[in-house]
Amino acid sequence: MSLNVITEAAPAPTPSTADAAAPARTLAWFDGALHDVDALQAGLTTHAMHYGSGVFEGIRSYATADGAAVFRLPEHMARMREGAALLGMAFDPARATDAVLATLRANRHRDAYIRPLAWFGEGSFGLDVEGHTEHLMVATTATRVHLAGTRARLGVSTWRRNPADSLPPLKLCGAYINSILAKRESKARGFDEALFTDAEGFVVECTGANVFMVTGGRITAVTHRDALPGITRDTLIALSGAEARAVGIDELRDADEVFACGTAAEVAPVQAIEDRCYGDNPVTRELAALYARVVRGEAETGRGWLTAV
Ligand SMILES: Cc1ncc(COP(=O)(O)O)c(C=O)c1O
Repeated sequence: MSLNVITEAAPAPTPSTADAAAPARTLAWFDGALHDVDALQAGLTTHAMHYGSGVFEGIRSYATADGAAVFRLPEHMARMREGAALLGMAFDPARATDAVLATLRANRHRDAYIRPLAWFGEGSFGLDVEGHTEHLMVATTATRVHLAGTRARLGVSTWRRNPADSLPPLKLCGAYINSILAKRESKARGFDEALFTDAEGFVVECTGANVFMVTGGRITAVTHRDALPGITRDTLIALSGAEARAVGIDELRDADEVFACGTAAEVAPVQAIEDRCYGDNPVTRELAALYARVVRGEAETGRGWLTAV
């Protein structure tokens, strides 16, 4: 086995004294059952650990007036299925959906980040994945993970984004080394996050978020074939009527407001790109507030995007 359960499955969680709403231990779903997350281990010859042969999603649930709900779960599952199909994995979105909901319920998480991961386990050290074991896990955490709550300062990456004709813009595990290199470089230069541009100077995206700009009150979603077609980006275009088109780095620098967006980042205002600092960001604030209402089921629109837990 490439991932072992090292103790018996955890007993039903008992409320801790610190937080009566939370179970004493965090559980993760692995290949059909919930286990204490600390009781799971991957083997050293796991194929995905050596080559990144896996696919993941980043999903969020929110506390709504009717209990916890997951935002745009079918769309996240469809994207994961696309990545899994490319790798030749037998991925079942209905099973993964059940696993997501079961993990949230078990951990009694409401506002949470959800991480499903499908990967190749043991087989051989060869690059042919046929015959390798396939696994699926889901973990949930109440911790914020990416840019959320910050006014990020972006450094323009000297690394190019994975070109789509080499690595399709999906959430394939190995592809994220590209993001890690760019993030490391930007942080070493004193920035919070990296902005990818292509060789012609067109903006691509950040390491884990898409990019928008506001100019003269007009909202524009940056389009690029190498960028992940983000579900948050799609949501914000639907909510704001933003135009979607290619944007050069000079035009982005000259914009009145810039923001990054993603499931984890939500709507994150950009404070600066290199030495260009942005001032007040009223349009971003308004859109961020609308998004916050939509994901919590508080707006008239978008209730169909929520899956009750
Ligand atoms: C590289 C990259 N771009 C953009 C996004 C935003 O996508 P979404 O809004 O679907 O979370 C993400 C996050 O998943 C990402 O990893």
